[in-house]
Amino acid sequence: MRNLLIAGGAGFIGSNFVHYILPKYPDYRVVVYDKLTYAGNLDNLKGLEGDPRYAFVHGDICNAEAVAKALEAYQIDAVINFAAETHVDRSIMDPDAFIQTDVYGTYVLLEAARQFGLERFHQVSTDEVYGHVPGEHRSLETDPVAPRSPYAASKASADLMTIAYHVTYGLPVTLTRGANNIGPYQYPEKVVPLFATNAIDDLPLPVYGDGKQRRDYQHVLDHCEALDLVLHRGKIGEIYNVGTGAEMENLAMVEILLHELGKPRSLIQHVTDRPGHDRRYCLDVTKLKALGWQPRHDHEEAIRATVRWYVDHEWWWRKIKSGQHYRQYYQRNYGQREVLEGK
Ligand code: NAD
Ligand code: DAU
Repeated sequence: MRNLLIAGGAGFIGSNFVHYILPKYPDYRVVVYDKLTYAGNLDNLKGLEGDPRYAFVHGDICNAEAVAKALEAYQIDAVINFAAETHVDRSIMDPDAFIQTDVYGTYVLLEAARQFGLERFHQVSTDEVYGHVPGEHRSLETDPVAPRSPYAASKASADLMTIAYHVTYGLPVTLTRGANNIGPYQYPEKVVPLFATNAIDDLPLPVYGDGKQRRDYQHVLDHCEALDLVLHRGKIGEIYNVGTGAEMENLAMVEILLHELGKPRSLIQHVTDRPGHDRRYCLDVTKLKALGWQPRHDHEEAIRATVRWYVDHEWWWRKIKSGQHYRQYYQRNYGQREVLEGK
């Protein structure tokens, strides 16, 4: 495995993975294949432009011809698929792009991987495919998928197709299902970068409902290390959960974030909840740990480090937040939400 095609490598996790993998494996070459949607950003890959082991291809994973051309031109051995529409609120407003990219686009990549006889196809998936996890249960890789948002349903469909390509055609696939990632270069629609950048500007933090939903906020570099491990030591045809295995309420995350910035709790504004909001995700990560993986950051360290990155990188996020696309999205998603008193 020498020549990797990183689909969606201009997004948040994909770009962190590119920065992680290039120095770690000096004989690897990396091709980022990305459509550059609103979430794709070449600023995330700044500094790599002159590197002979790096190339960028502007393309859509739904375009079979363009995908085949890139696989051939760069003699690709393995595809790692990060490319997706990823924001749950957008999937509720406009599901169409999610079906196109997350479902059909994954199929196009799988079919190309089969035709080119690639060494590996890795699908980057999410804990959201398990749906709301009740009681004290921790999702196991063998649990049935039970997605509840259009985003989660599109990712679950892609997982099923990836597994079907392994069972039916013997395609050498692996899958990972990650918890909530945070860290550098995350588009400020996701809760931690949104709240950090709003708080820096003394703007309200729109907490959905009572804020007692539970999530596992893991540092993106821990996720990158897990992906590396699964790519090199994971068993073909297998799924691996990726998370710290711990969970925290959203309001606890907000407290840490405000404390790190020295901002008041009065910025918290409870607003109308997300429809179908999953109350709890929690992963069992025993299978990944058996490969030798340990997260390096706990929740608090991951949140604090992320907040500091946004404090130090205003040049990166102010461009995005001041743009027309972002401002229209913000108005559409938050403009109609009622402020809930007494929460
Ligand atoms: P992101 O939204 O930051 O980036 C997605 C990237 O995919 C962007 O660069 C975008 O331009 C590209 N893209 C979108 N449609 C495309 C298309 N049709 N063709 C080519 N490129 C396209 O996403 P992210 O947060 O970095 O997530 C990456 C992957 O990890 C996704 O598959 C997501 O489902 C999964 N995941 C994310 C998290 C998380 O917390 N962010 C957790 C678990 C799993
Ligand atoms: O769990 C993995 C998933 O994590 C990934 O698959 C998704 O791509 C990624 O977007 C993320 O999904 P979430 O819906 O969990 O992330 P988000 O940052 O949108 O929301 C995190 C929590 O914060 C969730 O309980 C909803 C809440 N929230 C979110 C926003 C944007 C708020 O309370 N207010 C907000 O404004």
